[in-house]
Amino acid sequence: MPSATTARTGSVIETTALTKRYGSHTAVDRLDLTVPRGSVFGFLGPNGSGKTTTIRMLMGLIEPSSGRARVLGRPMPREGRTVLPRVGALIEGPALYGFLSGRDNLLRYDAADPTADPRTRRARAAAALDRVGLTAAAGKKAKAYSLGMKQRLGLATALLQPRELLVLDEPTNGLDPQGMREIRALVRELASDGTTVFLSSHLLDEIEQVCTHAAVMAQGRLITQGPVAELAAGARGRLVVTTPDTGDAARVLKEFGVADVVVAEDRVTGEPPGPDRDLDLADVTAALVGAGVRVRGFGVERASLEDAFVALTGEGFDVAG
Ligand SMILES: Nc1ncnc2c1ncn2[C@@H]1O[C@H](COP(=O)(O)OP(=O)(O)OP(=O)(O)O)[C@@H](O)[C@H]1O
Ligand SMILES: [Mg+2]
Repeated sequence: MPSATTARTGSVIETTALTKRYGSHTAVDRLDLTVPRGSVFGFLGPNGSGKTTTIRMLMGLIEPSSGRARVLGRPMPREGRTVLPRVGALIEGPALYGFLSGRDNLLRYDAADPTADPRTRRARAAAALDRVGLTAAAGKKAKAYSLGMKQRLGLATALLQPRELLVLDEPTNGLDPQGMREIRALVRELASDGTTVFLSSHLLDEIEQVCTHAAVMAQGRLITQGPVAELAAGARGRLVVTTPDTGDAARVLKEFGVADVVVAEDRVTGEPPGPDRDLDLADVTAALVGAGVRVRGFGVERASLEDAFVALTGEGFDVAG
């Protein structure tokens, strides 16, 4: 789709053949990314797949080798001065002053923003600290912060002002499970206020829990993107029949066009036929029963984004837990 059209229909990030090479190594390879306005967009990929490099290009911190990026409808890095004040960003290893307290880091950060009203600075810093759960530790020097606390403080810098777009590079990095839950809740809250959130992660279940849309990267290339529900549906779940009569069950499933039928102990599983041949599960159940199959359990195993990822790349993934 041409960029003018998608800008009108409301994508907040749009890249066309965006590429970054380091010597002979291509860190990001002809990336076409479309992030719809109002989405919580998960940018998913294993270590080294090009997530941070992409985000640095989007934020104008590094120049692409080729290709184009538009953020909030404007070309980056060229219009960074117009775009960046409307974007809150947390990028790998937030720059913090270790000798300053968390609160003073935020005050200093806020003071560097020419659009920020100095009279309301302290209130803004206090609210941002509160949102990331750092109020109690606000007076402590940042160098004494744990990794998770530094990450929270970095996130607080992105939350000083309401923004149209938040770009968060691995926002839950270094956080414990409770901290991760808090950040997920915060992301949902921000999204419900109308902020588009673009967040990178190498944790699949995190993306599934919080994101409406996702893109999957591997080795600098985009593998797929779209609504999370559709991506998961792309790897449709397998039909599972639990029965002692596995031979008859397998035969009936094959008659319905079920492929890759596998019998393991008292379970018969298979791939449902494609969307062109809609399978009515009630018909299958009736046929199984009609064939004298004693059905103890029947259903479709839920397909997850992880199934989709494995189906697409043949690779596994770290899953938080
Ligand atoms: N400044 C650089 N010079 C040379 N190579 C780089 C540079 N920055 C990144 N790379 C390489 O580009 C590739 C993508 O790196 P990037 O940091 O974007 O990955 P990532 O998806 O953010 O990984 P992670 O999950 O570990 O943060 C890696 O192979 C990395 O070594
Ligand atoms: Mg990274």
